[in-house]
Amino acid sequence: MKTRIPTTRRRFLSAAARAAGAGAAVSLLPAPFVLAQPAKVKVGILLPYTGTYASLGHNITDAMIMAIDEAGGTLGGRPVEYVKVDSEADPAKAANNTNKLISGEKVDFLTGPVHSGVAMAMVKIAREEGTITIVSNAGADAVTRQMCAANIFRTSFSNWQTCFPMGPEMMKRGHKKTVSITWNYAAGHEMIGAFKEGYAKAGGQVMKEILIPFPNIEFQAHLTEIASLKPDAVFTFFSGGGAVKFMKDYDASGLKKSIPLFGAGFLTDGTLEAAGAAGEGIVTTLHYAESLDNPANKRFSAAFKAKTKRPADVFAVQGYDTGQLLLHAMKAVKGDVAAKKEIMAAMRGAKLDSPRGPLTFSKSQNPVQDIYLRQVKNGDNAVIGVAAKALADPGRGCGLA
Ligand code: PHB
Repeated sequence: MKTRIPTTRRRFLSAAARAAGAGAAVSLLPAPFVLAQPAKVKVGILLPYTGTYASLGHNITDAMIMAIDEAGGTLGGRPVEYVKVDSEADPAKAANNTNKLISGEKVDFLTGPVHSGVAMAMVKIAREEGTITIVSNAGADAVTRQMCAANIFRTSFSNWQTCFPMGPEMMKRGHKKTVSITWNYAAGHEMIGAFKEGYAKAGGQVMKEILIPFPNIEFQAHLTEIASLKPDAVFTFFSGGGAVKFMKDYDASGLKKSIPLFGAGFLTDGTLEAAGAAGEGIVTTLHYAESLDNPANKRFSAAFKAKTKRPADVFAVQGYDTGQLLLHAMKAVKGDVAAKKEIMAAMRGAKLDSPRGPLTFSKSQNPVQDIYLRQVKNGDNAVIGVAAKALADPGRGCGLA
């Protein structure tokens, strides 16, 4: 599925757009046409709009466009054309979908995806083609490790970052033996792996790792197994529609009363309205919480709610910051998309006022960010601590200096 979102046409040609070469490109056209049509910046968006991750795709998209609209709807003085492709969170379609945007649509920038498997295929092509790419969710560690490249940026997280800090927190609460349960694909493996690494260092033991094919949501047999294993706690990564179902099933099975549930914060982000009482009490780690008390978050979450009638969540924040990063870099080059080196330099050096807190980028072009400890209280992720301050991914295997 491919959709075009028409941008508001502004009847001006800024000096910036002319400087950007738009004037040269359209100099043979009659003057009135030039006035009506400064060259557009094409932003490709590869995100899921169907399936278990659909709500994530919508929030990332809406908040990214909101950021750019708040700044007048232009990038470096030029109007924007958004070209959306539904990734269906399907790695098997990822190469084809990426090629549609890069070779077919010739987008100036590529953004997305949600799913780590889609990201691996997308980034492989984007590196070869040199398209400036901002990963706005998928945490695949390799994207900012072995696969890192000057043209690949990430405004979200690495899978490692979100889960590594949880182990010591669970040990502090006396939970020495844990069962993990997640989907059987890169994000699940890496998040559980990162959790295990931090947990083992603190003296904890993962008794059993349960893996479920993505995007299955049949949990019953696994919950029965957890009951028989009697761990001190359960650690999980699920997200979107699957997260809602897991929280509800865990609660309905009666396990929640005796075996507390912990997770990567995606479990309780964008899902609490649907989960209701089943979400209460769950402790998670994540780089955002809607309840964060800072001016950027207050402004952002109110604006997002007003625009979409939905509460802000981590996915919306990542979309918003993707928009902010595009604005920052395109302002630096006054709309000249051909000035790739300068755009990448501006992105590397960006300091964004993110709703999550101040945001900068590591050498491997992944966010350096606080990881918050959150607990669901009255339908909200309350911040109960900071599990890791200014945490950078180790960036192992990335040669960017
Ligand atoms: C991923 O596949 O990298 C992924 C998907 C959904 C999330 C987080 C990570 O909420």
